[in-house]
Amino acid sequence: MADIGLVGLGVMGSNLALNMAEKGYTVAVHNRTTSKIDTFMQNAGPLAERLVPCKTVGELAAAITPPRPVVIMVKAGSPVDEEGAKIAADLARGDMLIDAGNANFHDTQRRVKEFTAQGFDFIGMGVSGGEEGARHGPSIMVGASEPAWKRVEKIILDISAKFDGEPCAALMGPDGAGHFVKTIHNGIEYADMQMIAEVYGIMRDGLGMSPEEMADVFAKWNEGRLKSYLIEITGKVLEAKDPDTGKPMVEIILDTAGQKGTGRWSAIEAQDLGVPATVIEAAVAARGLSAQREFRLAGEKLFGAADTAIGDALGDRATTLDALEQALLAGKIAAYAQGFAVLSKASEEQNWNLPLATVAKIWRAGCIIRSVFLDDISRSYSASGSIENLMMIEPFTGWLKATEANLRKVVSAGLLKGIPMPALANALAYFDYARTGRTTANLLQGQRDFFGAHGFERTDKDGEGFHGPWAMGPG
Ligand code: 6PG
Repeated sequence: MADIGLVGLGVMGSNLALNMAEKGYTVAVHNRTTSKIDTFMQNAGPLAERLVPCKTVGELAAAITPPRPVVIMVKAGSPVDEEGAKIAADLARGDMLIDAGNANFHDTQRRVKEFTAQGFDFIGMGVSGGEEGARHGPSIMVGASEPAWKRVEKIILDISAKFDGEPCAALMGPDGAGHFVKTIHNGIEYADMQMIAEVYGIMRDGLGMSPEEMADVFAKWNEGRLKSYLIEITGKVLEAKDPDTGKPMVEIILDTAGQKGTGRWSAIEAQDLGVPATVIEAAVAARGLSAQREFRLAGEKLFGAADTAIGDALGDRATTLDALEQALLAGKIAAYAQGFAVLSKASEEQNWNLPLATVAKIWRAGCIIRSVFLDDISRSYSASGSIENLMMIEPFTGWLKATEANLRKVVSAGLLKGIPMPALANALAYFDYARTGRTTANLLQGQRDFFGAHGFERTDKDGEGFHGPWAMGPG
C-alpha cells in the first residue's frame, strides 16, 4: 500500500513524487491526462518500484493506506477546486488534501473551511525551488493545524532541502499561513531579480560591458556577501551561448517578463496591510512595463532613446563595480526588511504567530532566494526574537551605513542617464524615509484639513482633530 498520493504529474508534481519515492516512501500517482502517467513511469527508472500508477482517482484512493494524505500539484486557481472536489469524492472522512501549488492564501483559507466542513484535513503548502528543488529538496512552507502537521511532518521534512543538516521545511501557522509566506518569498524573489536586472542595465547600457565580462563579475560577487542562487544563475545566464546562433543567449531573449501572480499578490497584500513594500511593488510594476513592448517602442521613437553611457561617473572600472555590488547589498537589505515587515504585520492581523526566525532558516536552502544573506537574517532573528525592522539591527545597520553612499551614487548615475532603476531607487527612498525624523506629511495634513476638514495633530499640544485657520467656504 502507498504512504501518500500525488495528483498532477507536471514538472513540479513529477519531481516531488520522485523525491518522495527516493526517500523511501511509496507514492500513488495520478494525472488527469492519463498518458502522462505512463510517460512518468517509463522515466522513473529504479524509483518506479515505489510508485503506484493509478488511472483513476478511485484507484488512487484504494492504493493508499488510510487515513490518506493526497498531494495536489495542479495549476493554481480553479483547477485546485476542481481536482480537490474530484479527489475528495473518493476519499473518506479523516483523509487529507495537501495543495502544494502556488495558491493565493485567501483561496487556501476558503478551502480549509470547505474541506474541513466535509471532514477532511486541508493543508496549504508553499514549495519553492523549481524543478531541481522539487526533485532533490525544496524549501517547504506549511500551513496546517498542529495535528494535521504532525501526521505529515516526517515525510515533508525528509523531502525538504537541508542547510547544515537542518530541514528547510516547517509549520508556518494554520490555514493560509504557508501559502502566504510562499507569496512573500516570491515578492522578495521579484525584488531581488529586478535589482539584479537594474545593475545589469548599468553594466550593459551605462558601461557597455559584454555578457562575458558581466558573467565574470557575477561569479566574483557570488563569492562575497551577495552569494546566492540568484547571483549564481545570473552569471550562468550571462555566460551561456545560443546554440542556434552562437551569440550570447541573453542577447537573444526578448525583453518582456512573464509573471504568474505571486509577486503581484505580495504587493497587493502589503498594500492591504498598510505596510510599505515599495521595492517589491516596483519590481512587479517593472515586469508590467517590460511587457508593454509596443508602448515602449513607440515612446522610444517619440522621445528618442536616452544617451545611457555613464562613462567614469562612478570612478574607474573596479570602483564602479564595487559601487554596484554595494548598491545591490543595500537594496537587498531594504527589500528584505520590507518583506519581513509584511510577514510580521500579516502574522499579527491573522493571529498566525509566524515564526520569522524559522522563515529565514528554511529559506537558507532549497528555495529560489536562498543565500548567505538569509543565514545572516536567520541569525539576527534567532538572537533578537522580535525585530521591528531589519534595517535597524546589526549587522544590517552597519552594512547599510557602509553601502548607502554607493546605492545613492549608482541610482543617481542611472537616473541622470535615463536608465530605469525603479527597485533600487525605491530601496533608496525607503532608506531615506527610515532616517527622516521630520517628513513633509505636515503639508499633506494641512491639505487634507483644508479640503475635507480631516483634522490633524499638533506638534505643540496633545490631542487630535485640530483644524487650520483656512476659510471653509463653499467649494
Ligand atoms: C519558486 C518560484 C516558483 C516560480 C513562480 C514564479 O519559489 O520556486 O518562485 O514558485 O518560479 O512561479 O513565477 P513567475 O515569475 O512566473 O511569477
